[in-house]
Amino acid sequence: MKHLFEILQNYSKEDIYPFHMPGHKRNFSQVPFLNMDITEIDGFDNLNNPTGILKELNQRLAGLFGAKESFLSVNGATSCVHAALFALCGSGGKIAVSANCHKSVYSALLISGAEPVFMEPEYMAPLSVFGSVKPETVRKTIAENPDLKGVFIVSPTYEGITSDIRTIAEICHEKAIPLVVDEAHGAHFFLSDIFPETALSQGADIVIHGLHKTLPFPTQTGLLSIQGDLINRDIIASLMTMTQSSSPSYILMGAAEKGLSFMEEESGEQWKKYIENLISFRKGCKDFINIKLLEKEDYPDEIFDYDMGKLIICGKKTSLSGKKTGEILTKNKIQAEAVCFNHAILMTSLLDTAEGFERLFRALKEADVSDISDAELKISPIKRNEKISMREAFFSKSEFILPEKCQGRISADFVSIYPPGIPVLIPGTVIEIEHIEILKEALRRNLEITGFDFSKGIKVITE
Ligand SMILES: Cc1ncc(COP(=O)(O)O)c(C=O)c1O
Repeated sequence: MKHLFEILQNYSKEDIYPFHMPGHKRNFSQVPFLNMDITEIDGFDNLNNPTGILKELNQRLAGLFGAKESFLSVNGATSCVHAALFALCGSGGKIAVSANCHKSVYSALLISGAEPVFMEPEYMAPLSVFGSVKPETVRKTIAENPDLKGVFIVSPTYEGITSDIRTIAEICHEKAIPLVVDEAHGAHFFLSDIFPETALSQGADIVIHGLHKTLPFPTQTGLLSIQGDLINRDIIASLMTMTQSSSPSYILMGAAEKGLSFMEEESGEQWKKYIENLISFRKGCKDFINIKLLEKEDYPDEIFDYDMGKLIICGKKTSLSGKKTGEILTKNKIQAEAVCFNHAILMTSLLDTAEGFERLFRALKEADVSDISDAELKISPIKRNEKISMREAFFSKSEFILPEKCQGRISADFVSIYPPGIPVLIPGTVIEIEHIEILKEALRRNLEITGFDFSKGIKVITE
């Protein structure tokens, strides 16, 4: 087998003069890793028309994830989401979308002009997070919209909650409707049965992974995988070339290949240690008095399954604000993935060390001596009450209005609280008091809001 990473490394040592892109000419010593940054020269294939080593790379990725065919993206899971949605609805039509989808889904809807039919997942009020999408919700949506061209679900959510993909796939397939699962945060699920079952093994037709999120792959690498006969692979292959750069980075592809080799050949021992550390960490946290690390039994019965690798930390009695948790961690030189309204999210992977888990445990134990809970914050689920299409609203004449004057006006842009980037407002939303309250609370808690400028306000359609 040829290893792209090694070939790039060897090539960089050869005395071949580059009269080609990129302009640093592999001669820019200030950034040493650029010596492997090449372009589509002889022997290195082309991701946009893979016939050699990159075709093999895609095949190896498909083998690892158990797909019929996989397509590497160096433009994140975002490109994969766009390609999937354009493939199903690019020529117009309706797609059922779970309302807690990532903003890349919303941008794909806007650009494609597809008509979304939003499906509400379960909502877990004490935590203010979305839960699973119920199979009955999908069945009802399909019954009410027999002309659907696809169903798109995010599973796991950012917090690691999954949906019953097997049953949802069966419901979709009864009507020959393809199911897309955005499993961006679940690329590691295939590794062990302590994690939820993978969407591919449960029968989803297109599955999207963010490779860098939980596996040793570089940021910006994603994967779109297909199976079954409901998907036109040629359209997907073309769209994957259209939704990402025509000059895909060999540094990213080389590093992705190295990550893949590691997963194929060396991950076994590391993997076992990780599971041991994770389980013993979770066990230790059960003794905390004030701090809570969420386990399956802490969630309402409606959730289907959850990812043990995601550490969701909150207060035991009331809510421990994500921000406070963030401060406790920072004091101990630990950086959380995200601090949200009522909880903090910490991401683990098989490259985590025992020392890392111990440091986190010590920090939480130290903080556990007192009740550091915030007043519980109840946030209502985001209302999707769009009056006009996203596209129409986005391209309408608009103006900025201060939040207190926005009630009843129609949003002209996306406004998202980050993380996780699920939009609170999308173009076309009729702004209600609940939307404004969520944004104000996010501001009070110093959370990042994109698409909203405090001094100018919210972009709304000019009346
Ligand atoms: C559920 C989900 N899907 C898709 C994406 C997009 O991934 P990327 O940032 O790699 O493009 C994200 C990013 O966080 C995500 O959380």
